Amino acid sequence: MTLISRWRSHLPQLLSVCLLLLLTLGCTANATVNATTDGTYTYKSPSSDGIGKVYYGREIANVMGYQGANWLARPSRTTEERSDLAVDALQLQRDDVVADIGAGMGYISFQLAKWVDNGKVVAVDVQPEMLALLEAERDKYGVDNVETVLGTESDPKLAPESINLAVMFDAYHEFAYPKEMMAGIVSALKPGGQVVLAEYRAENPLVLIKKHHKMSQRQVKKELTAAGLTWVKTDDRLPQQHLMFFEKPA
Ligand SMILES: C[S@@+](CC[C@H](N)C(=O)[O-])C[C@H]1O[C@@H](n2cnc3c(N)ncnc32)[C@H](O)[C@@H]1O
Repeated sequence: MTLISRWRSHLPQLLSVCLLLLLTLGCTANATVNATTDGTYTYKSPSSDGIGKVYYGREIANVMGYQGANWLARPSRTTEERSDLAVDALQLQRDDVVADIGAGMGYISFQLAKWVDNGKVVAVDVQPEMLALLEAERDKYGVDNVETVLGTESDPKLAPESINLAVMFDAYHEFAYPKEMMAGIVSALKPGGQVVLAEYRAENPLVLIKKHHKMSQRQVKKELTAAGLTWVKTDDRLPQQHLMFFEKPA
């Protein structure tokens, strides 16, 4: 068989590969053309666990609905996340006012409340159903230092300079308006107050959490320093999450 006839016999496969390449390139170009921006956020077609809205190169994750609240209270969570170690690392003062932003049904809020028995926890969430679950638990056990606040997607609804610390456990990556949320949180912090964030480690492929529900340290630093906060430290004591500390300049 001559070289030319050998090529001819492969022509159909070659044509299919070229067609596939053209289609892929066409789709990529189309997605790029379709991306729009408002100066802060870029919009593209959503990934399976994202909302198609991009902030500092990160696609924002979709919100975990209250229908999945049972997952937040799963018994294995105690050993998987060791949030007891995280709360210990916060070095809370008994009279601190702590905002738990994206509190869900209060898994973290109730742990914080034990430490700030002369202060309080302000549990903020955008889903009234989550807050209703939290309130039912609070009232059942007579916890008197946890308040709930129904925020909006872009506003935590906290009074200026009213809190010592804001914590976000597995929540920040879901904020649909991270820039606006962080502006509200920074304004609510007293000077020198801290923001602490726990996010599943994106750098580690063995952390089996959906892609957009994890964050790298680099990304967190990029976004929170853009909000005017100073990175203080990253604590590595948690099995699967970064525990990152930031400060509002005094
Ligand atoms: C994965 S859950 C984590 C809940 C809780 N921090 C925990 O660890 O159990 C994330 C929560 O963030 C809330 N959330 C999402 N966007 C929010 C926003 N802009 N402001 C306040 N809460 C928000 C969701 O409603 C959800 O309850």
